[in-house]
Amino acid sequence: MGPLQIKELLQQTPDGQSVTLKGWVRTKRESKNAIFIALNDGSTIHNIQAVAAPGQFSAELLLTVTTGSCLKITGQLVASQGSGQAVEVKIDDIFVYGTADVDSYPLQPKRHSLEFLREIAHLRPRTNTFSAILRIRHALAFAVHKYYNDRGFFYLHTPIITASDAEGAGEMFRVTTLDLEKLPRTDEGAINFKEDFFGREANLTVSGQLEGELGAMALSKIYTFGPTFRAENSNTTRHLAEFWMIEPEMAFFELEDNMDLAEDFIKTVITYALENCKDDLAFLENRLAEEDKNKPQNERSIPLLEKLNFVVENAFERLTYTEAIDILLKSKPHKEKKFQYPVGWGIDLSSEHERYLVEKHFKKPVILTNYPREIKSFYMKLDDDGKTVRAMDVLFPGIGEIIGGSQREDNYEKLLERVHEVGIDPETIWWYLETRKFGTAPHSGFGLGFERLVLFVTGMGNIRDVIPFPRYPKSAEF
Ligand code: 4AD
Repeated sequence: MGPLQIKELLQQTPDGQSVTLKGWVRTKRESKNAIFIALNDGSTIHNIQAVAAPGQFSAELLLTVTTGSCLKITGQLVASQGSGQAVEVKIDDIFVYGTADVDSYPLQPKRHSLEFLREIAHLRPRTNTFSAILRIRHALAFAVHKYYNDRGFFYLHTPIITASDAEGAGEMFRVTTLDLEKLPRTDEGAINFKEDFFGREANLTVSGQLEGELGAMALSKIYTFGPTFRAENSNTTRHLAEFWMIEPEMAFFELEDNMDLAEDFIKTVITYALENCKDDLAFLENRLAEEDKNKPQNERSIPLLEKLNFVVENAFERLTYTEAIDILLKSKPHKEKKFQYPVGWGIDLSSEHERYLVEKHFKKPVILTNYPREIKSFYMKLDDDGKTVRAMDVLFPGIGEIIGGSQREDNYEKLLERVHEVGIDPETIWWYLETRKFGTAPHSGFGLGFERLVLFVTGMGNIRDVIPFPRYPKSAEF
């Protein structure tokens, strides 16, 4: 169905067979003996070279064949005369689907900054860098579904619009159909949400976990993979207002099983990308190496493939929050007062602390467990000491937290106590609490931020460059 992709054509044995190419012009080069057109259709990082003889086409037609224009080329697939490619196409005919004016098409063949490309997100998939990222993103998404399907998990579609704040963080986008110019009021003067679409306050979900748990209490092993939304005003290279999260939730899994699954899951999907995205990863590795040439030796990064293989081949370091605090207290930057934020039992680790543990101390991914209850969500299972909860965060070099998860509190009384403690109205999550009354079971789960995974695998520096159309404060173009 449809035309053969350039990826497929490049793999054919050339013997002069007729072929049709459809794609966008990357470059056109004219020499005394020939005209070379490099065409790309996004199926691969590689262009196919099409060659015409001088005088074969009118100057008028050739003027419309410019970088960015879209062509249909018919011709014969032959062994390439030049180096750099095995096959090329001897052109018989050119049809121009769409021109791209040289003076106004922004993607001319030269290096553009990532900041500039972000402003033209409608066109940036046509660059080598972004097409490589998007193909890798696709491969990882496919690998996620394959991973869980192969292991008996069911894909559960949790709602996008919810009335609960799963993380209790209060950083939600409101969903309403009320007329903001004429808000209905109660007798007390508050906004009357009874008149809103759902008859109550509603928001975009921050996590599918709570509904995911309901699924696990029936199907045993489920996962979600959907968009989540956070209205946190974080202008960082690691935060988006709209990001995709994968949340497996498993009945009869304790914290150890949860950690084993998280580690195996990340390693398996990275391995899938290593095996299936070789050309794109090689391209991005070279791109990073080029960038690094301008940096001093000690700031250069490990080659991308070496970094990915290292993560796949080595066990993640596992330790408790309490042990991590001890390491930080004994660390050189703490003793020399180099950390910006204070260290002590009970603190919420800041990114400098996490980076020290992962990048300086252990030099590998780390799973931190058993955090103080005060700094973690209400649904995490209380440890026997009453002070810590069975939480786990997976921390990655250059990324920070890539996974957050826990064993869940399965005891009704303890959960209700935590709900009151953090100030959630139990009425709003009566259905969640009921699962602890009817056939409760030990269970665990976690959330992997998909863009943070793509960031790690592509080696890119900014999360806004690994999602097609990023959403962040003051930006919702495209
Ligand atoms: O640690 P978080 O907030 O955990 C949860 O939402 C739990 N309900 C997950 C669960 O147990 N089912 O978020 C999980 C992950 C983080 O580790 C991070 O990778 C990613 O989601 N994340 C973000 N990614 C991009 N932009 C943001 N603003 C993110 N916030 C969290």
